Amino acid sequence: MKALIFVFSGTGNTMLIAKAFASNFSSSEVREIKSPYPSTLDMDGFDVIGFGFPIHAFRAPELFVSFLKNLPPLKKKAFLFESSGEGLHLNDCAGAKSMRILKKKGYEVISDTHFIMPYNIISRFPDEEAEDLYLAGKEYARLISSLIKEGKTKKPHHPFFLRWVPPLFWIEWPFARINGKHFKIDEKKCTKCLKCLHNCPVNNIVYKDGKLVFLSSCSLCLRCAMNCPTDAISIGMLNNWKVNPSYDLEKRCEGKIFVYKKPTRSGVLGRSSDKYLRFVDGLLKAEAKEKPTE
Ligand SMILES: Cc1cc2nc3c(=O)[nH]c(=O)nc-3n(C[C@H](O)[C@H](O)[C@H](O)COP(=O)(O)O)c2cc1C
Ligand code: SF4
Ligand code: SF4
Repeated sequence: MKALIFVFSGTGNTMLIAKAFASNFSSSEVREIKSPYPSTLDMDGFDVIGFGFPIHAFRAPELFVSFLKNLPPLKKKAFLFESSGEGLHLNDCAGAKSMRILKKKGYEVISDTHFIMPYNIISRFPDEEAEDLYLAGKEYARLISSLIKEGKTKKPHHPFFLRWVPPLFWIEWPFARINGKHFKIDEKKCTKCLKCLHNCPVNNIVYKDGKLVFLSSCSLCLRCAMNCPTDAISIGMLNNWKVNPSYDLEKRCEGKIFVYKKPTRSGVLGRSSDKYLRFVDGLLKAEAKEKPTE
């Protein structure tokens, strides 16, 4: 089965999940969503199309939603996935609007799966917990890919009584643009490597008169700030919530496999990670039971 996966990922978490999905199909291609979108999207010859995004304020980021709105109508199987920092039920309907858009365009959305990954804002997850979440996510993506390949549908979980949550947080989209104008660069730290400028998914950073300037189309993805080699970027009104540097999970998890361990943190976030890790562990145990013994 040939899969094409479109993904918007600010700081790399959702990209890692996209790659995990991709590795489970006989042939696959991962394409990053960035602005401006290509005028034509060659989607011929793929059996299934995946769409992934990070949850921002309990909803999908504006860039992702406008990408979906620009898609051509197509009668194809599709799957959605999103990553977020915790398993709060307020996140449950983040994919509902995207699913509606895809359905209207003719796509048959067969699943919408929520992956928990380490926060890229607010508070930093302990390294070991971050690694476990990624390793669990890889397994979860493998299991969902198997269902897709078997032609099965996993009914999306968008509880009716939580559908009001994403619209209520509409403010995140204009806030991202306004706050982005207030990003600042510490000139003493900046080496003018221009990594931030080249990597911004919406071309919101320009180099003018020897200085880097932030324009007004920021998607608050945090890629520039998290990956700046000298931590020179402050993120406007949210600067106290900065979670630098990057977790660098792909490198740190090389050769490791998921083995359930209780996170060391207590509190809501620790419990949320634990619930997710136990959930994936349960799926793997159920899978092992089903496998015929030789
Ligand atoms: C602006 C912003 C808003 C966020 N809002 C939420 C949220 O509502 N719920 C949540 O669980 N995580 C939230 N997060 C955390 C991210 O969803 C999470 O770290 C995600 O895995 C990042 O994915 P990425 O690396 O692909 O961008 C937010 C992050 C940012 C930058
Ligand atoms: S990535 Fe950091 S060091 Fe490089 S140009 Fe941007 S702000 Fe300066
Ligand atoms: S300016 Fe930074 S946070 Fe804003 S969209 Fe560009 S990379 Fe993302």
